[in-house]
Amino acid sequence: MPDTLTKTAYQTFQEGKKYFGVAHKTLSTQLLNVLSGTKREEPNPPDPQLLLLMQSRIDALLEADWQDAEDGIYPKQALFENRWDDFFRYYPELWLDLPKIWDRATKKRYQDFSEGIDISGYPSYYAQNFHHQTDGYFSDSSAQMYDLQVEVLFNGTAAPMRRRILAPLKQHLAQMEMPIGETPQPVKILDIACGTGNSLTWINQAIPQAALYGVDLSPAYLRKANENLSGIKGRVPAQLIQANAEELPYIDEFFEATTSTFLFHELPAEARQNVIDEAFRVTKPGGVFVICDSIQKIDAPEFEPLMENFPVMFHEPYYRHYIGDDLVARLESAGFTDVSTTTHFMSKYWIAIKPVA
Ligand SMILES: C[S@@+](CC[C@H](N)C(=O)[O-])C[C@H]1O[C@@H](n2cnc3c(N)ncnc32)[C@H](O)[C@@H]1O
Repeated sequence: MPDTLTKTAYQTFQEGKKYFGVAHKTLSTQLLNVLSGTKREEPNPPDPQLLLLMQSRIDALLEADWQDAEDGIYPKQALFENRWDDFFRYYPELWLDLPKIWDRATKKRYQDFSEGIDISGYPSYYAQNFHHQTDGYFSDSSAQMYDLQVEVLFNGTAAPMRRRILAPLKQHLAQMEMPIGETPQPVKILDIACGTGNSLTWINQAIPQAALYGVDLSPAYLRKANENLSGIKGRVPAQLIQANAEELPYIDEFFEATTSTFLFHELPAEARQNVIDEAFRVTKPGGVFVICDSIQKIDAPEFEPLMENFPVMFHEPYYRHYIGDDLVARLESAGFTDVSTTTHFMSKYWIAIKPVA
């Protein structure tokens, strides 16, 4: 397909996702308002100017996504990937789950899990219904619906936001020097809090020769990640381990690169620092740690109303602290250097290098 046609197809695909997300949210809110006889409103509804600004940031994000594919960071077909099987299988469940979400949200029940779910042994900060998610991260049905929910929440921009870790990751790995006399081994990349394996899927597209590792606290999400990654033809799936990212089960300096997407806003401050310290420990000297998470107040004061809405509309107990937290200082205190940051739409990226001693 000629490039202009492919680009138009990609833009149309993303437009479709956006309209779908907007339609789903509008309809579900209206339905719940009718059924419950109450009105759920954002504390700071975005004004038309803010909506225009958001659209221009989305356009810039999609342009960056297209450009990285054009530059060969990942194949263009990655831009069109979507788990259609999951979409058709689990989309109806999103609707069936809504009344439970609404009920918990209105009753402010934030640690409410189905019978039989055992939360003992998990950090107390983790045993939450993050985003009012039914069963939090503790059940298979939560894992099945998670990606769809995120897609709807971000109007189809979650994948383009996650893919922004790939260019700095790939570029840094390309310039890492192989010590003289060492047999070339596949580069090892760990995704911390890999969830259902989204970022590992994109890393595989960009760096197919890499050995992939993922760690997460949720067995259910790891099962889903295993299912998603096992579908990749012609390669050994990632090695996935259940563990707390505050105590990574790997020896020192094992990975050329570590990554993490959308974890830090769900951690209390102390845990954030512990995870960064652990990422530093397991990364090789000369290696890189790439983080993707929500934008912060310092980056986009114009989006502050949206950042204020987020923890009110969705249960996100650590988000308020997170948006004011200095992750550069945290990365430097762990020992990382040359920390650079960038933003795309609602996401922020930290690229941190572990210095060679
Ligand atoms: C918002 S999700 C992001 C998942 C995935 N990285 C993505 O981009 O879709 C947060 C993930 O962090 C995991 N998590 C939270 N705290 C953790 C911890 N202390 N150790 C390991 N995983 C944790 C959760 O189980 C969940 O899968």
